[in-house]
Amino acid sequence: MTETITITDNRTGESVEVPIVNGAVDAAEWRKLMPGMWFLDPGFVTTASTESAITYLDGANGVLEYRGYPIEQLAESSSHLEVAYLLLNGELPSAVELDEWVTDITHHTFLHENFRKRIHDAFHYNAHPMGLLTSSVAGLSTFYPESKDIEDPANRHHQIVRLVAKMPTLAASAYRFNRGLPFVFPRNDLDYVSNFLAMMFSIADDEYVPDPALRRAMELLFILHADHEQNCSTTAARVVGSAHADPYVTVAAASAALYGPRHGGANEAVLKMLNEIGSYDNVDAYVERIKTGDERLMGFGHRVYKNYDPRATIIKEAAHDVFAVTGQNPLLDIALKLEEVALADPYFVDRKLYPNVDFYSGLIYQSMGFPIAMFTVLFAIPRTVGWLAHWQEMLEQESRIARPRQVYTGLPTRKYVPIADR
Ligand code: CMC
Repeated sequence: MTETITITDNRTGESVEVPIVNGAVDAAEWRKLMPGMWFLDPGFVTTASTESAITYLDGANGVLEYRGYPIEQLAESSSHLEVAYLLLNGELPSAVELDEWVTDITHHTFLHENFRKRIHDAFHYNAHPMGLLTSSVAGLSTFYPESKDIEDPANRHHQIVRLVAKMPTLAASAYRFNRGLPFVFPRNDLDYVSNFLAMMFSIADDEYVPDPALRRAMELLFILHADHEQNCSTTAARVVGSAHADPYVTVAAASAALYGPRHGGANEAVLKMLNEIGSYDNVDAYVERIKTGDERLMGFGHRVYKNYDPRATIIKEAAHDVFAVTGQNPLLDIALKLEEVALADPYFVDRKLYPNVDFYSGLIYQSMGFPIAMFTVLFAIPRTVGWLAHWQEMLEQESRIARPRQVYTGLPTRKYVPIADR
């Protein structure tokens, strides 16, 4: 079978044979036949913006793999920093490589004191931690001007280490600031996840160690959120990075995209929705309201997964381990009923809407003591790895600047009218 398709311009009868490469149609061939004519594809629903060797996603069958490793196996056996190494380097590390990587990250967790005292503390006392995180990552760019040398792989690696290491510190300090609690310095005796939890929750306790079950749940959530191929925020990172912006402002742009309620802000929106529903008995009425089409069931639906989101399955199981320590989240009953009602309803079945990663993660976060406003921050910390893996891959591909076309639907050329004549 020939791996091509033939496109004919019926106005001229001209045809072009377009090769199918890796299951995709090469738009460069299309351009030869029809220069100046564009594919209109709002939301990039049918457009592959890049080739990528990082994450494989099969939405129809609920498959997610990082560098070929199924997410279920990584969730079961790996650590977030090992997964980070895998995503960034393409292979799992040897024991020596992992040790070096972890040591490197552990020794870059501190923030410059000027940054913490002058920039960070200048925010309004009730600043949303996601706004604070997004702005402060961008602010880090001014502390590391050498990061602009994006052509040098060693320099790129150094900035990646800094970003992966400092995100938990920025995130925890955003929380402490918001609560009026004193900043807790990073600790080198703790692993990545425990250190983050210590910076978040320890109060006058220099030897704070998190509960092992909660630490493991947090690690699991970090692994599940580390990458998800060309999602909105990663696309933002690639677009901004394609202009050769430095990695700090690139990650800030991605973080801004993640903040939106249709993307990483959904976990926050799920909790607000469950609180609004308020009781088990109100679920049926709420689902009927959703079906009018005016609102969306938050934590449901996905652009790519049309069967189930494998991350949601793992998180739902992990929730029970967390609740065994913290006591059951009272909103769990509402969530379970909501899932049951929605999955039996033709509105959701016909549109292939299933719980996504955000549906149960918020319940875990809340039970662990995170305020709702921190939920998207908890997504941003691990996703920084994915953003940077794609940023690095994009630069290695020598990609062109992202610059889509548009189909102009405005007025034709007209003459300027002086204000007195309008
Ligand atoms: N509740 C009710 N109806 C929905 C929902 C929902 N959550 N999601 C999609 N639909 C309907 C939508 O109204 C449309 O119906 P119709 O064909 O009658 O117009 C149909 O399903 C297809 O929707 P779409 O907007 O074309 O789907 P999309 O692929 O553009 O959007 C989505 C994907 C994730 C933005 C969307 O499902 C959504 O808004 N979900 C709620 C927010 C959410 O949970 N987001 C987290 C996504 S997973 C984590 C992440 O990526 O950050």
